[in-house]
Parts: sequence; C-alpha cells; structure tokens
Amino acid sequence: MSASTWAVHPDDRERVIKAAFEAKEFAYCRYSKFRVGAALLTTTGQVIKGANIENASYGGTICAERTALVKAVSEGVRSFTALAVVTDVASAISPCGMCRQVIREFCAQNMPILLVPADYEKRLAGGEPDGGIKETSIGELLPDSFGPEDLELPRDH
Ligand code: THU
Repeated sequence: MSASTWAVHPDDRERVIKAAFEAKEFAYCRYSKFRVGAALLTTTGQVIKGANIENASYGGTICAERTALVKAVSEGVRSFTALAVVTDVASAISPCGMCRQVIREFCAQNMPILLVPADYEKRLAGGEPDGGIKETSIGELLPDSFGPEDLELPRDH
C-alpha cells in the first residue's frame, strides 16, 4: 500500500498479480513483440484478465488494460478494487496515456494499481520487499484529470 491507495487483502493481491501474469500469455503482439497482461479485481472478488491485442493496421491495437476494462464493463461489471499490470520487462512499466484516461473513467482515484516487474517471483525469493512492485493510483498517474463528474458541472452556455 502506498500513501495514496487503499489496502487490498494479501490473498486478493496475489490473485490479481497471478492473473496479470496469466493474461500476458495470451498477448497478441506479433508486431511489437511486447507482451502485456492486466487483471482487474472486482468488489465481488472476481478477477478479469486482459492482454494487448495488436492489429496489422497498427492503430487498431488495444492495450491490455483497456482489454480488461472493456471485457468487465461490457459484462456489467464496473466496480473495481485493484488493477495489476505486467510485461516482460524486469521493472515496473506504467500504463500508456490512453489507458490512463480509460482507467480514470471506471476506477477510483486511490484504487491501487500494481505495476509488476516480470521478475517479480525472483525478486520476492531474493528477499526484495514486495517483489519490486510499484504501487500507484490513477490519481497519481493522471493528476488534474478530466472525468465523468466534469460533464455534470453547470455550464455557462
Ligand atoms: N501496451 C499495453 O498493452 N499497455 C500499455 O499501457 C502500454 C502499451 C501494448 C500496446 C502494444 O501492443 C505494445 O504494448 C507496444 O506498445
């Protein structure tokens, strides 16, 4: 937990991290060869996974984070308690700008976002606290953001 996020039960935390690694296995990334796995933990304890899905028309690519969110929301699930993201890089990799805005739409400002290094297990075994996870939140990743509430504000015209 960091100062800006709420606590997640250690079992749930492990589940969502493991699911992000599993999701990465299904990455369709024949162009970038950059695999990304994401997993969302829901308020009912469900875990929803997503991988990046690329396209020969490169702009059609969908990031792992958005895959997971779109899967969840399109099944009627909109309450999340954590998001985990992992790549094949041995350090924490942060969501792209477009994903940050989509996360902002559906996740609380202080919901934990766990950026998991590929060598998480090895780091844990080596005694590194928290396996090198960078814990952050959308409030930190996208400060002063535009969100759904802004559309509710009174307008001058
Ligand atoms: N990618 C993600 O899945 N999430 C991010 O936040 C950053 C980028 C994917 C998109 C593309 O398939 C590959 O990583 C390289 O950009």
